[in-house]
Amino acid sequence: MNAARRPLMAGNWKMYKTPVETAGFFAAFRPLIRGLTDRDVLVCPPFVDLEAALRGAEGSAVAVGAQTMHHVAEGAFSGEVSAAMLRALGVTHVILGHSERRQYFAENDADLALKVRAALDAGLLPVLCCGETLAEREAGQTEDKVDGQLAADLQAVEAAELPRVAIAYEPIWAIGTGKTATPEMAQETVGFIRRRLRSRFGEAADAARLLYGGSVKAANIDQLMAQPDIDGVLVGGASLDAEEFARIVRFSEPA
Ligand code: PGA
Repeated sequence: MNAARRPLMAGNWKMYKTPVETAGFFAAFRPLIRGLTDRDVLVCPPFVDLEAALRGAEGSAVAVGAQTMHHVAEGAFSGEVSAAMLRALGVTHVILGHSERRQYFAENDADLALKVRAALDAGLLPVLCCGETLAEREAGQTEDKVDGQLAADLQAVEAAELPRVAIAYEPIWAIGTGKTATPEMAQETVGFIRRRLRSRFGEAADAARLLYGGSVKAANIDQLMAQPDIDGVLVGGASLDAEEFARIVRFSEPA
């Protein structure tokens, strides 16, 4: 972990929990993370739970984010939600390009370049996801895949905006499978991402927060956060449980 960047500990609830369950989560979670001031905590529930989450988080340091958005402000796009709508609600962050959105909802890099730009323009902080499939890893294509995704998706981003951008490296084979990349494997690709950002943006790259995601749990968080380029995590399954997520948020680096 790098002292210059505040850790960002983010939960992606995916399609789990109702508004009532969301309220219950916050009631249990808040006391467990009280007093933590040196890291950012983010919870990203389904759209229908955003208001309950914002209410539950009120007066705490927990931020609330959405899991996707459309890139235009309004229009005939049934089922979609815009950055301006999220901002109006009080949402501060948005996950973009999660591999499930790319895989099941055909979100592509051209869309994502527009979404990252629209999020920043609206004052939302994007958490942009990237990562390779198992077949790509086995074929030695991990770096090319991630590099291509980021070059395309960050196309319209300026160096000065990097402090507002988080990038989550999530190897698809590690998501929801219980197969976490080893901390060394995670560091290897996250370190590669940092070097590529430096070659494009110069020193400004050091302000972007780089997260790891994929089967993060209480049992592996400390080792992951000890890696020099890992500034935080994006947690799926383990963020649904207040106690487990609190333990993740409260990581401590092994001595
Ligand atoms: P997981 O999901 O922690 O359940 O593997 C991570 C993610 O998809 O962001």
